[in-house]
Amino acid sequence: MTISEYIKKVPKAELHLHIEGSFEPELMFEIAQRNKVAIPYENVEAVKKAYQFGNLQDFLDIYYAGANVLLHEQDFYDLTMAYFKHCAEENIVHAEIMFDPQTHTKRGVEFSTVINGIQRAREDAEKNHGISSLLIMSYLRHLTEEDAFETLQQSLPYKHLIKMVGLDSSEKGNPPSKFQKVFEASVKEGYIPVAHAGEEGPAEYIWEALDVLKVARIDHGNNCLTDSKLVERLVAEKMALTVCPLSNTALRNVDDIKNHPVKKMLDLGLKVTVNSDDPAYFRGYLTQNYLACIEALDLSMEEVKLLVRNSFEYSFLPENVKENWI
Ligand code: ADE
Ligand code: ZN
Repeated sequence: MTISEYIKKVPKAELHLHIEGSFEPELMFEIAQRNKVAIPYENVEAVKKAYQFGNLQDFLDIYYAGANVLLHEQDFYDLTMAYFKHCAEENIVHAEIMFDPQTHTKRGVEFSTVINGIQRAREDAEKNHGISSLLIMSYLRHLTEEDAFETLQQSLPYKHLIKMVGLDSSEKGNPPSKFQKVFEASVKEGYIPVAHAGEEGPAEYIWEALDVLKVARIDHGNNCLTDSKLVERLVAEKMALTVCPLSNTALRNVDDIKNHPVKKMLDLGLKVTVNSDDPAYFRGYLTQNYLACIEALDLSMEEVKLLVRNSFEYSFLPENVKENWI
């Protein structure tokens, strides 16, 4: 079996996926029409053309605009179910899914509408496709900590459905330390903390995510490579990084997939996983991310097997379930 055939077929886990980032233009148009919400594009082709980004903020502006059409529980169900259908096609058997409540509650959509739609899709995915999932409630870092506290409060009736809290959106100028108190309060409520750090922001933000937010996993983390002491610590602590290759090239954090650092990260002993981030916007679901790296970086079968193994080992599945996949 070739490495490409192997990665298409093998059971895999995805640990870094924004559900709003899996919103395909076709579904966006369909939901916009049924909700009678105007979108600033004439057709699906025009939307796809707009997906050219100079940096993270360029992308986020379009991503938040796309989410505007999501109003009803059924919309969140359809969005989530569409992602799970991709999972079934690619043999993704476990997904840890981020959702951004504030993207919706800021527009007057109730927290309950968002989570009930996502939850119903999770249950159907488990029942109909055998796909397990966990939810990461992500705070938007361009908003205030007070705002995040409000979201934490809104989440409490649904605490049993949410496993982790995360931190995403515009990284530069919004360091992890801005959210120290709300992360402390979230951990007290039983949520496991993770955070985007070192995607566009400096290595210093990764130190803060570790020391101030006390995260159990780093989302992206690429910029750790500018700081050898930090790499040493991440390796020593077996701290997983959820790396997103096609996201990095689409947002120009890496100029060319041939220069992607994922192989170097493995060589350094970092606990790397491969993920898709926002596949509808970056033109590639999980398998496509693996294939791009296999081809551009000439990854060996052993390296690919290690990446797949890491995707389960550094998931937040219970240990006895993980063992079935490793
Ligand atoms: N929200 C969705 N995708 C994101 C990314 N790659 N970085 C930060 N925030 C995000
Ligand atoms: Zn992300």
